[in-house]
Amino acid sequence: MHLRKIGISFLLAQASLSHAAPTEPSRPHQGSHLPYQTHPERTSAIKEAFRRSWTGYRNHAFPQDTLRPLSNTGANDRNGWGATAVDALSTALLMGEYGVAADILEYIPEINFDATTTVVSLFETTIRYLGGLLSGYDLLNGPYASFNFNNSHVNSLLAQAERLAGNLAVAFDTPSGVPDNDLIFDPMPRRVGSVYNHLATIGTLVLEWTRLSDLTGDYHFANVSQRAEWYLLNPDPGAEIWPGLLGTRVFIDNGTMADREGGWGGGTDSFYEYLIKMWIYDPVRFSYYKDRWVAAADSTIAHLLSRSSVQPNADWAFLSSYVDTVPVYSSGHLACFAGGNFILGGLVLGEQKYIDAGLAITDGCRRTYIMTATGLGPESFQWQDSMASVNNAQPPAEWKAFFDVAGFWITNPAYNLRPEVIESYYYAYRATGDPKYQEWAWEAFLAINKTCSIGSGFSAITDVNEPRGGRFWDFQESYFLAETLKYSYLIQADAELEVHVQADKGNGWVYNTEAHPIRVWQGSRPA
Ligand SMILES: *[C@@H]1O[C@H](CO)[C@@H](O)[C@H](O)[C@H]1NC(C)=O
Ligand SMILES: *[C@@H]1O[C@H](CO)[C@@H](O)[C@H](O)[C@H]1NC(C)=O
Ligand SMILES: *[C@@H]1O[C@H](CO)[C@@H](O)[C@H](O)[C@H]1NC(C)=O
Ligand SMILES: *[C@@H]1O[C@H](CO)[C@@H](O)[C@H](O)[C@H]1NC(C)=O
Repeated sequence: MHLRKIGISFLLAQASLSHAAPTEPSRPHQGSHLPYQTHPERTSAIKEAFRRSWTGYRNHAFPQDTLRPLSNTGANDRNGWGATAVDALSTALLMGEYGVAADILEYIPEINFDATTTVVSLFETTIRYLGGLLSGYDLLNGPYASFNFNNSHVNSLLAQAERLAGNLAVAFDTPSGVPDNDLIFDPMPRRVGSVYNHLATIGTLVLEWTRLSDLTGDYHFANVSQRAEWYLLNPDPGAEIWPGLLGTRVFIDNGTMADREGGWGGGTDSFYEYLIKMWIYDPVRFSYYKDRWVAAADSTIAHLLSRSSVQPNADWAFLSSYVDTVPVYSSGHLACFAGGNFILGGLVLGEQKYIDAGLAITDGCRRTYIMTATGLGPESFQWQDSMASVNNAQPPAEWKAFFDVAGFWITNPAYNLRPEVIESYYYAYRATGDPKYQEWAWEAFLAINKTCSIGSGFSAITDVNEPRGGRFWDFQESYFLAETLKYSYLIQADAELEVHVQADKGNGWVYNTEAHPIRVWQGSRPA
């Protein structure tokens, strides 16, 4: 157990909150301290970007969800509850932007989580809003407890999380307990009645919903999310493509898999991510989740790690997806989180093979950045595998010259301010201490700052391979503040920050898929 500066008072506070004495096993401690470097001139440039994106939002969009930086207007794409404000809170705290944090904290008690006129996504609402609220609560009762934020505002974070989850819980009232992802709140919360849900949207709830139960003592939230997860942890015999690797869609009626297509991209991605993160959260309650992550990771290394025919012996690799047992040599920006997730798994399990695979995937994703005109990576790309004889197409003629140098070609050239590549650089740096990952993250930040800065903030762009990024989409997703700027900052920032991923298994925090740090479980478990 690491006891950092503020750790002791936090532990005492936690112990007095819980009804029984802490029974947590002590976590292994190897005491390895890598020579992490802090780069103050970089962190201040990244904070400048955060302040600019926040101020643009605050002036032109708040309390709507999202800034349109070019037209200086707002959009309500996340139910009109102020998504960017809630998503930005944990980043504001970590960056020491306490004025922004206080501003957000004053707003949160006013959000009416009982009403919205647009369809509610259980998944998006969980990772952005619930994750943001719970992380703020953990941070403000932990490392930021002594900063004198208004107590009533801090307590409201948990009360609002409980109120929101209370409204969302109707999603799980299905014959199987597999939730419907889509809800309508007007006049009362109810399900739309979907036939399918997806691996990611079922399997990326359990961290937030379990944390909410552990903080409130109301175990209904943990129960429903874990019951839904049960189907994914115990698939029907024959539904696994390879051990641990599943399809994408799940029948809500009975929890069985509805197809045999999958991989680590959108639709499935964070189901795999949370398997190992739940074990970090509590290795006793979630030990089987770890076993399932190990199975999926081993199958991925055996069947999905692919070298481009342009450089068959390179250190870098891409992750293919699959249709049944036939690999499909395409991937995308979303799947680039997998590098970091493999590295995290390797660190906490003490298994170098996962770290090595994660570094190779991270390196492959970097290639998709450095080979384009903007230095930013595309939404999706394809390549020719060095070995396969099946389903292994040549690049289209117009991409042949690009492919011969880059080792991939672009199938969707947009960049939507996404974090996953910088996120993986962060894990790679924490695991190795190698400053090259800080350089890579800084290059990526500079490319974003140069290409996506527009009007009152930052915008998605249409083409990473046009020198100026093509056109602007006029949209600044809330995760740009929650994730992209947070990981950009953390990799350059203070080596002593308590929330950092640790290279020695002593993790006191685990990041949800929206990069909100959640305090790992401490104190008494439910009976
Ligand atoms: C804290 O916030 C509450 C609710 O907004 C307010 O009534 C109270 O005066 C605030 N307390 C302080 C010390 O500012
Ligand atoms: C949670 O589930 C357990 C066992 O499945 C059950 O005994 C318990 O009553 C449930 N608790 C709540 C609050 O739903
Ligand atoms: C599960 O439900 C789907 C849709 O209702 C149905 O097509 C499928 O046959 C069911 N599977 C099992 C094993 O009951
Ligand atoms: C980031 O972009 C802003 C706005 O164009 C510019 O003022 C600033 O100098 C840039 N930061 C760096 C480090 O290049």
